Amino acid sequence: MGKRRVAILISGRGSNMASLIEAATAKNFPAEIVLVVSNIAGAGGLEKARAAGIETATVESKPFGKDREAFERALNDTLVAHNVQLVCLAGFLRLLTPWFVKQWDGRMLNIHPALLPSYRGLHTHERALADGVKIHGATVHFVVPEMDAGPIIMQGAVAVRDDDTPETLAARVLAVEHQIYPDALRLVASGSTRIEGGVCRTSANASPDDRLIAPAII
Ligand code: GAR
Repeated sequence: MGKRRVAILISGRGSNMASLIEAATAKNFPAEIVLVVSNIAGAGGLEKARAAGIETATVESKPFGKDREAFERALNDTLVAHNVQLVCLAGFLRLLTPWFVKQWDGRMLNIHPALLPSYRGLHTHERALADGVKIHGATVHFVVPEMDAGPIIMQGAVAVRDDDTPETLAARVLAVEHQIYPDALRLVASGSTRIEGGVCRTSANASPDDRLIAPAII
C-alpha cells in the first residue's frame, strides 16, 4: 500500500501542521503531506509549509460570507483536485457543515486542546483551570457533524499545576498535541483503526500501566 495522501487545513500559525510535516518526512511514515490549505490569506502556517517544500493553497472563507457550503465546495474541489485521501484539521477555525463532513466521513481528523468529551469549544485551558481539574490534555478524533465530538483516536494528558496560567498550561498541552497528532495520523493512515459502534478501536499496543496522578504526594 502506498502512502496515504494527506491535506492539512489551517487558519493560523500551524504548529500542529509543522509537527505533522516533520513526522511525515520519515521514510516509514504511512502518509505524505501533499497540500496545506488555509482559509485565511497570509496565515503564518502557509510560509512554514512552503519552507518545508509543501504545496499550499488559500481558499478564503470570508468572500463567501454566510454561505458556508459554497466555501466548502470550493475547498472540496481543491482537495479532490490534489487526490487527497485524508484530511487533518489543525487549528482550522471554521464550523463545517454536515455536507462537507460527509464527503470526508471516517477520513477527517481534528485535534482539540482538551480531554474530550470535557471542554468542547473555545478557551479550554481557562475553563479547566477555573474548574480546578488536576489532569488536562489533548484529543485527536475523527470529525462528525457535531462540533468537538466524534470517535476518539488518541489522547494525551498533563498534570495541572497550582501555579498554572492558561498560557503555561497551553504550552504543555501543545507539546502533547505535537506528539499525539502525528502518532494518531500514523495509526489511521496505516489502517490500524476501525470504528465500531461510534467508538474508535485500534490495534496499537495498549499503554503500559502508566498512571498519571496529580497532584503527586511526595
Ligand atoms: C491548537 O492548540 C489546536 O489544538 C487548537 O488550536 C491550536 C492551533 O494551533 N484547536 C482548537 O482549539 C480547535 N477547536 P496551531 O495552529 O499552532 O496548530
